[in-house]
Amino acid sequence: LPTDPEYPLSPRRPREEPGSESGISPSDFQRLSQFISDHWGINLPPTKKALLEGRIRKRLKALGLDSFKKYCDYLFSPEGLEAEPMEMVDLITTNKTDFFREPDHFESLTHRLLPLIFREHAHLNGISLKLWSAGCSTGEEPYTLAMVLQEFAEQTPGFQFSLLASDISRRVLEIARLGVYAEEKIAPVPLAMRKKYLWRSKDPEKRQVRIDADLRKKICWTRLNLLDLPASLPKPFHVIFCRNVLIYFDRPTQERIISSFLDCLTPKGFLILGHSENLAQKNFPLATLAPTIYRKTF
Ligand SMILES: C[S@@+](CC[C@H](N)C(=O)[O-])C[C@H]1O[C@@H](n2cnc3c(N)ncnc32)[C@H](O)[C@@H]1O
Repeated sequence: LPTDPEYPLSPRRPREEPGSESGISPSDFQRLSQFISDHWGINLPPTKKALLEGRIRKRLKALGLDSFKKYCDYLFSPEGLEAEPMEMVDLITTNKTDFFREPDHFESLTHRLLPLIFREHAHLNGISLKLWSAGCSTGEEPYTLAMVLQEFAEQTPGFQFSLLASDISRRVLEIARLGVYAEEKIAPVPLAMRKKYLWRSKDPEKRQVRIDADLRKKICWTRLNLLDLPASLPKPFHVIFCRNVLIYFDRPTQERIISSFLDCLTPKGFLILGHSENLAQKNFPLATLAPTIYRKTF
């Protein structure tokens, strides 16, 4: 048998390469977090190492790789750079969402913003409102908006709307397009809207509902990176919802995205962020109307 050169000077340890299944090595973590930040703006400080490991581990299994180092070598190879980012983004994004999440935003939309926009366009004999849900995840936010806008349209002759919903993750967009949700998820939807816009599955065992087909048709879904907006984006929008997305970005990236939202808004358009994404200390041409509801000042 070959002798162990370290024995008996040091205790026997399993022979592992740095960065094997036991964890991502510091240099690979640095490479990965830089790659993720450059591509999608998502900020992963060293405290998120265990989280990143947990999420990538699933990918190691799928690819039949036995170490994080091999995963990094694959990701940064020409072949990996071609195919892997699309898979990786599905793993690293946080997609938590709900119907009527942060409900005061929908109250303000119905009772303040929409009447105001409609009044300001009265001289045009009506308005076709354009709204964008940026970072829409599995669709609960844009479907909530579609219900609210449809209700307003039915009471307001001359009011029409179109809704764009986008996300970077292909996986969540597939769920969103399908519009099928577990029954527990619809608890925040008011009863009258549930009766009008949601259909229970024929199979009671499934305990699922589907969004009404006409409402689903109101939304145009697209895969889009907020760091790299396409020239084909159908701007300008009267209202942009981008809630609980910027919190994952570092400050310069947040500022860059807010600047591009300003370019995408109509004059005096509205930007609505998540409640933890306050712009109070930042110097943008945006006036605060209500908590995290902003209006372009020009
Ligand atoms: C926590 S969810 C927010 C969903 C919804 N807006 C809400 O507030 O309930 C954040 C979403 O932002 C998306 N996202 C993250 N980085 C992105 C990027 N660079 N471009 C577009 N979408 C991104 C994620 O895929 C995720 O679905």
